Amino acid sequence: MSSEPNRDMQSLMSRYGIVGRNEALREALATAVLVAPTDLSVLIQGESGVGKEIIPRIIHDHSKRKGKTYIAINCGSIPEGTIDSELFGHEKGAFTSAIGEHEGYFGAADGGTLFLDEVGELPLSTQARLLRVLETGEYMRVGSSTPRKTNVRIVAATNVDIPNAIKQGRFREDLYYRLCTINIKIPPLRKRQGDAVLLFKKFALDTAERYNIPEPIRLTPEAEAVVNSYKWPGNIRQLRNITEQLSILSESRSITPEVLAKHGITPNSDDDTGIATIGGSNNSGSQHDYEQEIKILAHAVFELRSEVQELKEKLQGNNWHKAPAGTTLPVPLSAQKKPQHSPAVDLDIPTAEEIVDDDTLNIGDMEKRNILLSLQRNHYKRKLAAEELGISERTLYRKIKAYGIDE
Ligand SMILES: Nc1ncnc2c1ncn2[C@@H]1O[C@H](COP(=O)(O)OP(=O)(O)O)[C@@H](O)[C@H]1O
Ligand SMILES: [Mg+2]
Repeated sequence: MSSEPNRDMQSLMSRYGIVGRNEALREALATAVLVAPTDLSVLIQGESGVGKEIIPRIIHDHSKRKGKTYIAINCGSIPEGTIDSELFGHEKGAFTSAIGEHEGYFGAADGGTLFLDEVGELPLSTQARLLRVLETGEYMRVGSSTPRKTNVRIVAATNVDIPNAIKQGRFREDLYYRLCTINIKIPPLRKRQGDAVLLFKKFALDTAERYNIPEPIRLTPEAEAVVNSYKWPGNIRQLRNITEQLSILSESRSITPEVLAKHGITPNSDDDTGIATIGGSNNSGSQHDYEQEIKILAHAVFELRSEVQELKEKLQGNNWHKAPAGTTLPVPLSAQKKPQHSPAVDLDIPTAEEIVDDDTLNIGDMEKRNILLSLQRNHYKRKLAAEELGISERTLYRKIKAYGIDE
């Protein structure tokens, strides 16, 4: 940063679309710029959804490597069986399906930057390979004993408590110290007083612009207080998703605490997670919470089934029955003049009527919406969302990519 740190910070933030007045966030950004010209490895720590992925981009763009390759890898999404070959490459015939040779990310990113996201998910054997390349600049492809040289700057990120993973024998202590030469901590949104409202305004404007919505949504003063005091367990990702949903679905442009409450956003309460869309699970693990959740889910599934039945009847040319009250999502903008159903169950499942009437909502949209909601309910933990949706984690990952869901 030059002699005008505030102006420099402002222009950095606007270049990367970053909003916030929080001092700890600004310090994290300033550190990223400061360490960028060095080749020191950086470890970014912070909860899911706090904005960790912006940091490696800033580091790369402000380094001498900026014209070279930048590769971001999510270590948690690559199956254990193939991760070594994806990272380090393999020789032809290294394993049964290795028909040709493969360069691997460490080869491909030579001269550039490799961002290892969710580094805490790396298997121990891969951690050993990673440590070696960090210490010597050399690695070996799977199935080869010839060392290869690479010049890669490593930036890693994690939302797990690595010291704890070390205690449990899941993470190598030597690798941890090697990775966190520079440690950048991104604070959770609940610790950035006032930033949630600023971010809401930004996402409301962005969404209005993207979807040609004439008037962005705005918070009433009471709703601002709710947004400020809510704990945002899914952090900025959750706030962005909610703001986008409200921008598109809310009938009124003025968002009140009542509207927020329908989306599970309630004033600061004992509900630690804040996830109240279904049952308000608070991680206490009490039997009561689970029972409540199961009841609501069972009710929702029952209603969904009756809607599908009605949809079938409609498609078969039978008389159309109005969907039972209590299962609707707020009326989409495109359908604002229609009478609204009264929501009783806070589940964003469209009625069959809406599915048929609103040609913007197809089966793909529904699936995307269900995936999004499930991710929200499960704190953006793919494993839990996949279990809830009854699909494998890999399938969920592919769908997230296919639908362009930005977690
Ligand atoms: N301060 C911020 N201002 C604006 N958008 C942000 C900010 N921090 C995060 N975001 C957005 O929130 C979303 C989640 O951020 P991401 O970096 O993917 O989180 P993480 O990797 O920590 O889980 C992204 O769409 C990102 O652009
Ligand atoms: Mg991330």
